[in-house]
Amino acid sequence: MKAMEEKILSDGKILPGQILKVGGFLNQQTDIKFMVEAAKEVARLYEGTKITKVLTIEASGISFSTLVAEQLGVDLVVIKKHASANISGDVYTAEIYSYTHKNSYVATVSKDYINEGDKILFCDDFLACGNAIKGVQKILTTAGAELVGCAIAIEKGFQHGGDTLRSEGIRVESLAIVESMTDDAIVFRK
Ligand code: G4P
Repeated sequence: MKAMEEKILSDGKILPGQILKVGGFLNQQTDIKFMVEAAKEVARLYEGTKITKVLTIEASGISFSTLVAEQLGVDLVVIKKHASANISGDVYTAEIYSYTHKNSYVATVSKDYINEGDKILFCDDFLACGNAIKGVQKILTTAGAELVGCAIAIEKGFQHGGDTLRSEGIRVESLAIVESMTDDAIVFRK
């Protein structure tokens, strides 16, 4: 999506450690007008796939995922990063290691919200190494639900998670793929 690349170039900042700061439109603050267009693009890409639910992991992908779910006319399920008193009863869990944050967490979601036969679109703000999606895939397999594909606002192509997932047959649609980032240039995959 050309507009996502242009937005990253105009609003993004590169921080040490190959971190792209996009808090002004995607994370901490959501540019609703722009992100609605991004969500419409996701809905266009997944047209005809009969998705029944959008799924994300808390926290920073929630606003984007909400807009995508609205465009698709389905509900959004948010996986928690830790067990909480708010989640009662039976849960699905998967341990996920975050390369970016250098820690592991137990992704947890109530069994009430993912049903056998559900056709799931996983949505997130960033895709780096792909570990979150592997954890989600494990949960969906256990639940008997299908991962139709993934919709990512920004993929960090140089961390190769998306390439690995695609080579395993998972559909990954990223609105922008950053191939490289240096202090003075961001290069996108063509
Ligand atoms: P992976 O699932 O693809 O393996 O990715 P990894 O854990 O390494 O990184 C994903 C997490 O790190 C996400 O946060 C994502 O938002 C954040 N992240 C990764 N690279 C960047 C970046 O360049 N810029 C920004 N702003 N964030 C980045 P999270 O674990 O979902 O935590 P939360 O912030 O949503 O709570």
